[in-house]
Amino acid sequence: MKVMIMGIDGYIGWPLALRLLREGHEVTGIDNFYTRRRVREVHSESALPISSMEKRIAEVGKRGLGDIKFFRGDVSNSEKMHEAIKSTEPDAVVHLAEQRSAPYSMMGLRQAKETMVKNIVSTINLIYEVKDQVPDCHILKLGTMGEYGTPNIDIPEGFFDIEYRGRKDRLPFPKNAGSWYHWTKVHDTNNLMFANRVWELSVTDVMQGVVYGTRTEDIIYPALFTRFDTDEVWGTALNRFCAQAVAGIPITPYGKGNQARGFLSLEDSVSCLALGIRKPPERGEYRVYNQFDEYYTVNYLAETVQQVYHQETGKNAEIKHIENPRVELEDHYYHPENQKLKDLGYRRKRELRQEVSIILKDLEKYRDRILKHRESIIPKTLWKA
Ligand SMILES: NC(=O)c1ccc[n+]([C@@H]2O[C@H](COP(=O)([O-])OP(=O)(O)OC[C@H]3O[C@@H](n4cnc5c(N)ncnc54)[C@H](O)[C@@H]3O)[C@@H](O)[C@H]2O)c1
Repeated sequence: MKVMIMGIDGYIGWPLALRLLREGHEVTGIDNFYTRRRVREVHSESALPISSMEKRIAEVGKRGLGDIKFFRGDVSNSEKMHEAIKSTEPDAVVHLAEQRSAPYSMMGLRQAKETMVKNIVSTINLIYEVKDQVPDCHILKLGTMGEYGTPNIDIPEGFFDIEYRGRKDRLPFPKNAGSWYHWTKVHDTNNLMFANRVWELSVTDVMQGVVYGTRTEDIIYPALFTRFDTDEVWGTALNRFCAQAVAGIPITPYGKGNQARGFLSLEDSVSCLALGIRKPPERGEYRVYNQFDEYYTVNYLAETVQQVYHQETGKNAEIKHIENPRVELEDHYYHPENQKLKDLGYRRKRELRQEVSIILKDLEKYRDRILKHRESIIPKTLWKA
């Protein structure tokens, strides 16, 4: 299959490219290195060293893993999007190329507008390119479990049956996002659902949990590392906790730490996406998957990192709760469903403690890089500012 990865230079995009090559797909990627630039702006860098896209592709070729065709460009620019789709005519496109930091989107008006415009426009560009040039192409778009928020009822996969004043219907489950970034994902979801209804595009909308990990089955040499962010803006909860333990600074759950979220390992994330490509929807089908292995509270994750770190090194990592910079419920019901990917054949491969142990070992070798940017880990972006 010819697969285009939008956002191939990213945390998930790069290992996904390696996996799809191994599975025999023809892989094309597009990226404008947005994340690299924005991470530098907050005086941080990937804790694991990553080389330029040119060198990464050369490395893959040198190891006989396959060829990757790369376009440099901003997918919110419709000409760039057009050029990439026209010259590759993909059978499937995985759309990962968005501003994906909730704190970044909450920094101020400039960042909120940038997130709104770039994210929503990039998805609209993709919708029109597929409709006009490759209408049979499967769009696999990454959304987030954060679109649903934390309702006091179970969370189904996209749709639910409802009875109201004696009448019944099957409707999209209400969304209640917690940042401008998460709202752009809700808008993308609505736009794709509408495009499917009007033009019968084939869409998989993946509501993904928070991803953790440094390795996949394909990342076996440091030369193939993917980025790993640890700062308050671009680093996510569990990855950041591991970096804090390794750097010898307190692990900092926000607020009470009883917030629960769905999580999954990088290997499981990539496996699910590859499965979605291998088993596409029917022509004209719109399907929604909730993609996570397990849901955990932030406290449970902090304690797990503390325990595994002690087991591995004999050293103690301190846990220090700090004021929550976000506006979110800290004690709440959380029960999302995730059956559909299992029905498609997905089986979880990685366990949390095993994965945390691998992350800690990998980061230990790059402790100096984390320490150099330690100031960037402490939250400065406040939702209420
Ligand atoms: N990592 C997670 O925990 C997680 C969880 C849920 C959902 N997601 C979603 O998965 C997707 C990928 O996440 P990630 O962690 O790999 O993020 P990432 O920032 O590491 O990767 C995104 C890639 O897209 C590129 N990009 C961004 N905007 C672009 C644009 N306008 N044009 C071209 N390239 C652009 C970036 O340079 C980057 O290489 C995102 O859409 C994110 O919202 C991620």
